[in-house]
Parts: sequence; C-alpha cells; structure tokens
Amino acid sequence: MPIPDSFLQELAERNPIEEVVAEYVPLTKRSGQNLFGLCPFHSEKTPSFCVSPSKQIYHCFGCGKGGSVINFIMDIENLPFRDAVEFLARRAGLTVPDDGGDPGRGRRERLYALNRDAARFFYEQLVAPGGEPAREYAARRGISPQVLRRFGLGYAPDTWDSLIKAMKERGYTERELSDAGLVRHGRGGGLYDAFRGRLMFPVIDVRGQVVAFSGRILGEGEPKYLNSPETPVFSKSHQLFGLNLAKKSKSGYIILVEGNIDVVSLHQAGFDSAVASLGTSLTPEQARLLSRYTQEIVIAYDADEAGRKAAQRAITLLDKLELRVKVLTVQGAKDPDEFIKARGADAFRLLIEGSENHVDYRLDTAKSKYDLGSDEGKVGFLREATGIVASLPSAVEREVYGARVAELCGVSDAAVKSEVARVRRRRSAAERRTLEREQRPTRISQPQLKSIAYKNPRSAAAEEGVIRLMCLDPALFRSLEGPGEEDFSSPELWRIFSALRRRTESGESLSPAAMSGELSPDELSLLTGILQKPESVANGTRALADYIGIMRAERSAPPPSEEGVMEMWERMKKEKRG
Ligand code: GTP
Ligand code: MN
Repeated sequence: MPIPDSFLQELAERNPIEEVVAEYVPLTKRSGQNLFGLCPFHSEKTPSFCVSPSKQIYHCFGCGKGGSVINFIMDIENLPFRDAVEFLARRAGLTVPDDGGDPGRGRRERLYALNRDAARFFYEQLVAPGGEPAREYAARRGISPQVLRRFGLGYAPDTWDSLIKAMKERGYTERELSDAGLVRHGRGGGLYDAFRGRLMFPVIDVRGQVVAFSGRILGEGEPKYLNSPETPVFSKSHQLFGLNLAKKSKSGYIILVEGNIDVVSLHQAGFDSAVASLGTSLTPEQARLLSRYTQEIVIAYDADEAGRKAAQRAITLLDKLELRVKVLTVQGAKDPDEFIKARGADAFRLLIEGSENHVDYRLDTAKSKYDLGSDEGKVGFLREATGIVASLPSAVEREVYGARVAELCGVSDAAVKSEVARVRRRRSAAERRTLEREQRPTRISQPQLKSIAYKNPRSAAAEEGVIRLMCLDPALFRSLEGPGEEDFSSPELWRIFSALRRRTESGESLSPAAMSGELSPDELSLLTGILQKPESVANGTRALADYIGIMRAERSAPPPSEEGVMEMWERMKKEKRG
C-alpha cells in the first residue's frame, strides 16, 4: 500500500520547503518569488540552487537535481522514500499511516535489528571468559574498558558458527545473515561466520543504528581489517566510523584520521570528534556528511607517503565545500595513536592549535619533492608552487603565499607575482573554453541530470513542452486523443506525462509531494527542470498542436546527425548575435 496522496500533501504543507531547505542550505539570494543558495549536491561558487515557495519545489540549474521537499530530504539525508517521509513526519509531529507494504523497508528494519543484535553478541563475547584474547589485545593497545563500552567494541570468537547459532536462536534467517554480510558461503553450500578471531568495531550511523562492522585481527596478520560488504543498510562511501559520537562534540572541529584505532585512541585522550573513513580515501559523500556537522576539519592522517597523498585528495574535496581545513603532521610517529601514546594528549592539542593551514602544507609537500639547491629544482618547485598560489581565491592570500614562495627560492616577489597572474589568466581562458563546449546544443537540450539522456533532443524538447502545458492548462487535453506512448521518444518523459494525465483525469493531486510517491527521484528532477522553463498558455491550443506535430514528424524521420546538430548550433549562435 503506497502512502496516500492526502498524507503526502499534508506532510508537505506542514514542512514548507523553504524552511526545510534553509536548515541545510543558506538561501542568500532572492529573485522574484524564488530563493537561491549554493547547491548542496554539486560544488559551485555562485548560487544556482533555487527554491520556489509558491510551487513548493527546489531545482538546481547547475546539476539538474530537483523535486519536492520529500526528494530534498531523500537526497540530503541519503534516505529512501519511506524514511524521508518518516523523517519529515517526525519533524512536523505527524504519524505516517500504517502500511503492510514496502517489503524493502521491512527487510532493512530486520537488518538493522540483526546488526544491533550481532553487536550485542560480540560485546557479550568480549566480556565473557572466552573474550580473554580480545581483552588482552585491547589492553595492549591501551584501550580502556570504558572506551570499549562507549564504542560498543566486541569480539568475534575464533570459531566457525558461534554468531550464526546465536542469531538463528534469535529468529534471524540464513538469508538475513547473508544479506547483512555477516556470513560467508562455503564451497559445499554451508555457511560460516565472516568475522572470526577479530576485535569488532561496529559502524554506527548518525541515527544511531548499527549498519556494519569492521574487524581487526588481534595482532599481526592479513588482512589486518575485514569490513562488511555493501548491504541494503550500508554503503561504505557514505559512512564514517565514529561520526555518531563526533557529531555531538563541542570542540568545533572534526578530526579526520585513517584508522579505527586512531579514532578510539583519540576519544580516549579527550578528542571526542575523531572519525575515520572506512579504509577508503575520503569520498565526496563523506565530505558532504562532515560538512553537516562542522565547518572545520583537522586532518591527522598517517605520516607516510600514502597518508600525505590521501590528505591532498581530502583537502581538494573539503575545499570545494568551503570547509576550513587544517593538516597536522604527527612527526616522529606513524599515526595519531602512536603520537598520543608517545607524547601525550597535550602535545596533540598543541599540534591542533598550531597546526599549519593547508596552503603551507601543500607548499611544504611540493618543496620536499625538489632540491632547491639546484636550478632545475628551483624551476620545478616554482612551477608547482605558483600553481598552488594561483588557485587561492583571495588576493591577500596570493600575496602572502606568493611572497613565501619567492623567499624559499630566492627570487623576487614581483617575479612570482607575474607568474601567478599568468597562470590565472591561462586558467580562466581554459575555463571559458570548457564552458562554451558544455553549452553545445546536444548539452543544452539534454537534461542537466547526468542519469538521463535524450535519444532525440528535438522531439524531447517538444515532449517537454507538452508536459508543461499539461501542468499549466490540463483543459487543453480534455477532448484530445493522445499523444500516446508511441509519440514519445523519451520513456521518462512518457512516464511523467502519463502520470500527470492520469492524475488530472481522476482528480488526484498534481502537487510535487504527491507526485514524489509515484515518480522516481530522477523523473521528478526532470519534471522540476521542465517546469522552470518558460511556457505561455495564451496560445495553448496552437502550441500543443505544434509540439505534437514535431513529435510525430520526428517519429517518422531519423534523428538529426551530430553534424546537423552542429549546424543548428552555429545558426543559433548567429541568430543570437544578429
Ligand atoms: P593499526 O594502527 O595498525 O592498529 O591500525 P589502524 O586502525 O590505525 O588502521 P590503519 O591505519 O592500518 O588502516 C586505516 C584503515 O584502513 C583501517 O581502519 C581500516 O578501515 C582500513 N584497512 C586497513 N587494513 C585493511 C585491510 O587489510 N583490508 C581492508 N578492507 N581495510 C583495511
Ligand atoms: Mn594506524
């Protein structure tokens, strides 16, 4: 049973989109009736993310994402439809009507419960007499019993089926154990525990649900860590170990480290905002997640070359979200855990307070690659360093760091300055060229959304027009046969059109919130994009006939060749100029 339209509509009314969005995105600009801000779904410097309080939709002119308040929550909170509805219902104090439906949801609820029970089981094993090896290992790593409890760490015994047995007793099926990634299939078809003889770190999401596990071998051995596979409740690139605790920290920054052990060890030393990405380098999704909880990130990766490289990549991602980034180098230790053990928490705090900002860090990294005693070394470093300085957005920063580069190489400030200016000019020319390329007609008439491509842009443009008219003036269609599925070149546009038409004819709601229960997020994004384009209903009958005419002609004619499209583009450009 789908959620009734009437409830979705009430939900949307009680969660005005401009209010909900403003909790995530500062809407700084107003243009007509619309509010604008920086799009949270792609990186940009000028606001193209638009919220329309009157239409109750959002739409990004940059990346094409859009939809109702429900779609917004699905995207930004990374929740499936049902969960987003519940999220908004909680926000507005409503109760979602019961349903026996959405089997996916019931299944996910079971997996959350299974993971929670498994975490409990592992913890019981840790404190039971048989948990000695894990307790001893934790003690050897200096992890206190309180911290073990705070993180809910556990022990997966070194047997083949203790978890399977315990979970079956609690009523979970083999299928569920397998879906949760807690078991493996043997060659003979039998099942065995995936985690054996490991110290277990439950991965807990920001809502407090156990979504996965990361298991460290007790001592030396390969693989050092075993992580849960991707499951219906776990996507590695969207989670950070420790964020469930770090999000509550009062420190004002989040410390990003590599290892689970570093997270635990930092918390124990009083740094309660440490998180680790799960063995991957930081992903864009994780960066976005972080940006919801803090404006400043302290990167404390391992001191090796891999750590340095990972830090560079993380800086690039975090920069795009305009987060302040500090990088610290744990000199004389391999990682933050070792640093704290050797030098103490106060030394680490000093490191954070005095830690270099990332421009220094990048310049230092560049410097370490060259021999500044030689001329080639100097030239190489200068080339790289001016590139770094040129990418700084503020003129003051360019001035300050430019001077530092000049000093390091023993050349004049002016020389560095003119080189930086040259790099900037070259870059903006290159940017202009890309922009022009991106605005070719096949792009213009394609949806901005990357996941949908029109096979026949000319017909699709007419199909979009039909959809706009359907929304603006449904009466036009009342006595009309068609257009039918065979007239549409784009299956997505057909789905949208037929949903709109069916709803109009049966008197159902066309509100974006109600539609988001029926159309996919991509389809709804497409629809909001279509509705942003101008359409006049003054000559609706005529326009509709034209659109349908184009669609039918296109069905009988082959789509224009790439060359034809280019000619059209050139012509359009000329017309624009002329
Ligand atoms: P130690 O300090 O050596 O005890 O471990 P650590 O927790 O600091 O981890 P380390 O810095 O070695 O690795 C960073 C992260 O990468 C770990 O927390 C894991 O998430 C992941 N990782 C490390 N080794 C492996 C491995 O063998 N397999 C997988 N899948 N992930 C790993
Ligand atoms: Mn480590």
